[in-house]
Amino acid sequence: MRIAVTRRIPAAGLELLGREADVVVWPEASPPNRDELIAFAAGADGLLTLLTERVDGELLDALPSVRAVSNMAVGYDNIDVEAATARGVIVCITPDVLTETTADFAFALMLAVARKVKLAADSVLRGEWRTWEPLGFLGQDVHGATLGIVGMGRIGQAVARRARGFAMTILYTDQERRPELEEELGARFVSLEQLLRESDIVTLHVPLTKETRKMIGANQLRLMKRSAILINTARGGVVDTEALADALESGTIWAAGLDVTDPEPLPADHRLLCLPNVLVTPHIASASEATRARMARLAAENLLAALRGEQPPRSLNWEAVRGRAHP
Ligand code: DGY
Repeated sequence: MRIAVTRRIPAAGLELLGREADVVVWPEASPPNRDELIAFAAGADGLLTLLTERVDGELLDALPSVRAVSNMAVGYDNIDVEAATARGVIVCITPDVLTETTADFAFALMLAVARKVKLAADSVLRGEWRTWEPLGFLGQDVHGATLGIVGMGRIGQAVARRARGFAMTILYTDQERRPELEEELGARFVSLEQLLRESDIVTLHVPLTKETRKMIGANQLRLMKRSAILINTARGGVVDTEALADALESGTIWAAGLDVTDPEPLPADHRLLCLPNVLVTPHIASASEATRARMARLAAENLLAALRGEQPPRSLNWEAVRGRAHP
């Protein structure tokens, strides 16, 4: 078996793959472009991809030996699952293992933005700390605030559990109400509109789909409180970037913490990065040593099982493809 891995990943995953397959790893820090990927992965039975690779019908047609694609991520908006299924290619992802770490980071961003941590720390680095200032770096309280969770999936729920410890009032919205969770999480189901109007902090936890693309645009931002904070650890495309920059510039909302952006990466001269009320991090919400090792291991287990003809632990289309996967 030959497996192509599109970037260096934690050793835990590479070691597993190496026990059963010949493994080639894209050696550069930047992802391969389309042509480079096709040349690099030619003849591979399986691909271990990251969210930076677009996997679509065109790529799979150019790599006809590929029988399985294992994405080291829970999100899979980079993969055309329908095109893969149509070609008998198994697609796998890595849910669950990153839930708690990602929720930790959503809280890290929330606290950092609300309490102006970066602005204050930067002022210390610039040598501007002269004295204790009664009016310096006044932020917003996170404890006791109203938190609006958009998307009450695994990560949304993990954020809600943390919010209980901060005595927050928890609102949520989703495609459907989740009554079974409401008592445990102390969360109340509301419309997106009501959530935006009532929340002090809005945190996004929906996948990027046709329906969620730019679901937070100018109209939605206008509904939010002028003191509100927007946190995005989901996908940049869920928010209309220019509308957000306008809202932050004009004071329509108070601040934002973004671990994901559209485009991603955000160019260093992007107008969002010039605003004092925005904190942007480079898509690191799942980046703890333990969690990235778990993601790499699960991605490897998925891929090896798929290539052996066994049901992978976490596949999106195993049922549809099994028996049709090309030999
Ligand atoms: C994912 O898994 O989808 C994250 O965005 C990266 O951990």
